[in-house]
Amino acid sequence: ALDRAIRPRRLEDYIGQPQLKEQLAIFIEAARGRGEALDHVLIFGPPGLGKTTLAHIIAAEMGVNLRQTSGPVLEKPGDLAAILTNLESHDVLFIDEIHRLSPVVEEVLYPAMEDFQLDIVIGEGPAARSIKLDLPPFTLVGATTRAGLLTSPLRDRFGIVQRLEFYSVADLGRIVTRSARILGLEIDAGGAEEIARRARGTPRIANRLLRRVRDYAQVKSDGRVSREIAAAALEMLKVDPCGFDPLDRQLLKTLIGKFDGGPVGLDSLAAAIGEERGTIEDVLEPYLIQQGYLMRTPRGRMATPRAYLHFGLTPPENTTPDL
Ligand code: ADE
Repeated sequence: ALDRAIRPRRLEDYIGQPQLKEQLAIFIEAARGRGEALDHVLIFGPPGLGKTTLAHIIAAEMGVNLRQTSGPVLEKPGDLAAILTNLESHDVLFIDEIHRLSPVVEEVLYPAMEDFQLDIVIGEGPAARSIKLDLPPFTLVGATTRAGLLTSPLRDRFGIVQRLEFYSVADLGRIVTRSARILGLEIDAGGAEEIARRARGTPRIANRLLRRVRDYAQVKSDGRVSREIAAAALEMLKVDPCGFDPLDRQLLKTLIGKFDGGPVGLDSLAAAIGEERGTIEDVLEPYLIQQGYLMRTPRGRMATPRAYLHFGLTPPENTTPDL
């Protein structure tokens, strides 16, 4: 419930992602000016960067309803058909984890996206019938962690493709300050920056850390958040000054300690730390790679010299993979 209070509702309240905001504002204003549905939008990027928030903002800016579902929930073509036939003109249909649609459901989506046509078979055997229905023009907003997970026919049907980037510390600081104001929490610039620096470039993490820092300040101090209080709270939460949590550190330490810094295949690494490979690829790796602690090479994952230095270790002489 509190997440909803913090989430920005309009594009003007959305902090960060400047190119994306500029482009979306133009496409939305143009579609509205023509009295049309916005073209289909694909949003991709690591978890917690605001894909769902953006879908809600798009619907609000277009002045339409949002229907929300996800790839794994749509098991049968009929599940998707039920939603499509209940849409109103220009509505937004948000499909999260769109890369997890089953192939038969994806088939239903193609003509729906392209021609606003529903084309499904009902019944089985000799009684089977194919029905075609006109759908109202609508906007599909699809979200996925990596664009490369989509089949190309699906990807090709999105007119607008936007990638979410990790947020700068400055933008995360603004987000933390805004969230604190909504929560009625007193925080100074140093406190906001300390949380922002340790939030892995991710608003969802920044807001989660903010709530835990608030708890700490309330119990251990006078409820106000300074840099010192934030740092002490985050220390207790085992979030280090680079924003790495215990799992990030375990991954890097395993790579260095068990695999000599790599290269090591993703499956071996996953088995060694007891995580799913998907979690490593989608949740853990992107930030470690962006920050220069981890490399993906043709022969597997490698720790960079910076990863060794993070743990006070001396990097090996040659950490460059021979390609
Ligand atoms: N809360 C979470 N993400 C946000 C963003 N991008 N802008 C403002 N508030 C947010």
